[in-house]
Amino acid sequence: MIKRFLSFSVLLIMAGIVNAQRANYNIIPLPKEVKTDTTQQFTLKGGMGITYDSSNTEITRTAKFVQEWVKEATGIQLQLTPEDKTAQIKLAISTPSNKGKKAKQPAPLTDQQKESYTLSVNGKGILLSAYEPAGLFRAAQTLRKSLPIAKESKGVELPFVQITDQPRFSYRGVLLDCGRHFFSIEFIKQFLDAMALHGCNQFHWHLTEDQGWRFEVKAYPDLAKKGSIREKTVIGPGNIRIYDNIPYGGYYTQDECREIVRYAAERYINVVPEIDMPGHMQSALHVFPNLGCTGGPYPVAPHWGVMREVLCGGNPETLTFLKTVFGELCDVFPSPYIHIGGDECPKERWQKCAKCQAKIKELGLASEDIKVDGDGGRGSQDGRSAENKLQTYINHEIEQFLASRGRSLIGWDEILAGGLTENAIVMSWRGTKGGIAAAKQKHRVIMSPNVFAYIDHPQLKDYSKQPQTTGSYQVSCSKMYSFEPVVPEELTEEEQNYILGVQANLWTEHVAYPEHAFLQLLPRLASMSEVQWCAPQQKNFDNFKARLPQLQKFYDKLGYVYCHQVE
Ligand code: ACM
Ligand code: ZN
Repeated sequence: MIKRFLSFSVLLIMAGIVNAQRANYNIIPLPKEVKTDTTQQFTLKGGMGITYDSSNTEITRTAKFVQEWVKEATGIQLQLTPEDKTAQIKLAISTPSNKGKKAKQPAPLTDQQKESYTLSVNGKGILLSAYEPAGLFRAAQTLRKSLPIAKESKGVELPFVQITDQPRFSYRGVLLDCGRHFFSIEFIKQFLDAMALHGCNQFHWHLTEDQGWRFEVKAYPDLAKKGSIREKTVIGPGNIRIYDNIPYGGYYTQDECREIVRYAAERYINVVPEIDMPGHMQSALHVFPNLGCTGGPYPVAPHWGVMREVLCGGNPETLTFLKTVFGELCDVFPSPYIHIGGDECPKERWQKCAKCQAKIKELGLASEDIKVDGDGGRGSQDGRSAENKLQTYINHEIEQFLASRGRSLIGWDEILAGGLTENAIVMSWRGTKGGIAAAKQKHRVIMSPNVFAYIDHPQLKDYSKQPQTTGSYQVSCSKMYSFEPVVPEELTEEEQNYILGVQANLWTEHVAYPEHAFLQLLPRLASMSEVQWCAPQQKNFDNFKARLPQLQKFYDKLGYVYCHQVE
C-alpha cells in the first residue's frame, strides 16, 4: 500500500500536479536583505486578484507581467482586479520618507533608488512596493524567480518574507555585437528578456563593424543596403584564411530599432547604440571610399581582426558624415549615452596621409612622449601622439554634437590616448587600468575588462565541451564572479563614485547563431548579475552555485540554451 502511494506521489510530481509547491527566495541576483519566517506562509491560489493603479500604464504593464509570470511558472491564473483594494496581491508606489531630515524638499532619488523595492509576504498576501514603476518591475522579477516551476499547481506556499532590495550600480550592461553577425529582432527581444531576468538595465547594441553596417541611415540609403553585405566569411577561429564564399548580410530599419527601444523600455532597459569610429569602419568605407585616406576600393571585411583602413581624420567630409549618422542615431535612440567606439584605430594611414597631416598641422597637434595607462593591445597607436590627438579632436567634435542633443559620449578606453574630451565616459576593456586612469581624472567609467567580462571567450577548461570561440579559456563563471569593479586598492572613495557600473560583452566573430549566443551568455550572465547588483560582502561563489539550480529551472522553462557545467 505504502509503495503504491509513493509511486502515485512520484507520478503526480512528475506530472507537475502537486497540492502545494513552495517558493524559495534564494534567487539570483541575491537581494540586499531577505528576512524570512519559514514558520508561516501565504498560499497563492488561482482566482486571486492583483490590485494596482490602472491609470498608470507602466504599473498596469507590470501587473500583467506578474499575472503572466505566475501563470508561466506555476499554472496559477490570477485575475487583474485593479479596483479591488482587498485583493491579495498588491502593487503600490510609496513615497520616500524624509524622517529625521530637516530639508523641505526631499532629495532627488538616485538611479539606484529608482530601481529599489520591497517585497513582503504576510497573512494578507503579497505586496510589491517601490518609489517608481522601475522598482515595481524589479520586485515582480524577484517574485517570479522565487516561484517553483510546476505545470499545474493547486497553490504555491510562500513563506512570510520581507525583502528590501536596491542594485549596487546604476549601469548594469550587456553588449551584443550585431556587426560581425546579424541577429534577428525576435532574437534581440529574447536577449532583452534574459537581461531583464538577471536585473540588467543597459543593452549596448554594437551596430557597425568592418564586417557589416547594420543601422539604416536615411540620408545615406546605400550605407546599410550595401555596407551590410560581405561577399564571404572566413571559416573558423584559426589564422588560416579559408572563406565560405557565401554572401552574408542584414540590417535594422529605423522602425525596427524603435521597436527594440520600446520593447527594452518596457523591461526597464535602456538601449545604448554604438557606431564604432574612426576605426572599425571598413563597411562604411566600402560605400564611401572617399572617406578613407587612400581612396579605396575597400571590401566589407570578410575576415576578423583589426583593419588598418579607417576613416580619414583630415577630410572634413568625415565629420559631416559622422554628424549625419549620429544625428539619425539620436533621433531613433533616446538613450542618455551614445557609444562612439574609438577602439583599435591603427594610425598607419593617418601617419602617411597628406590630409591627416595637414589637419594635425592646422590644429597645432604635437606628439608628446607620454605613455597612457591602458596603452597596449590590438592595433592602436600608443601614447600621446599627434595622430591620437587628432582622434581626440574628432571625439571632441562629436561630443559637442551629442551634447547639443542632450547626450553623453561613451568611448572604449583607447580614447584616453590622445587625451579625454571634457565629459567622456570611458568603457574600460583592456583590463581596468584605463578605467582607473579615467576615474582619477574625474571621468565616469564603465568597467568591462576583457579578462573578467568577455563572454565570447570559452567558459570551460575542456575545449571539447564547448563550441570553438575567441581566444583561450579565461572567463569562467567563477572568474567573472570574482570581479570587483571599483578597485578599492587603487581608487579613493571619491574616485570610486565615478564607476557607474559593469558590463559583459558578447562579441560574435565566432558566434553566428542564437543558440550559441545563449550558450556563451548563460550562466555567465548570472555571475555578472551579482557583480552588477550585489554588495561585495554579500558575494560568495559557493553560495551562488547553490542558488543557481533555481534559476536554471527558469532557463529550462524558457527554452534557453545554457552551459550546464559551472567552473
Ligand atoms: C574591443 O573589444 N575592441 C572593445
Ligand atoms: Zn587621412
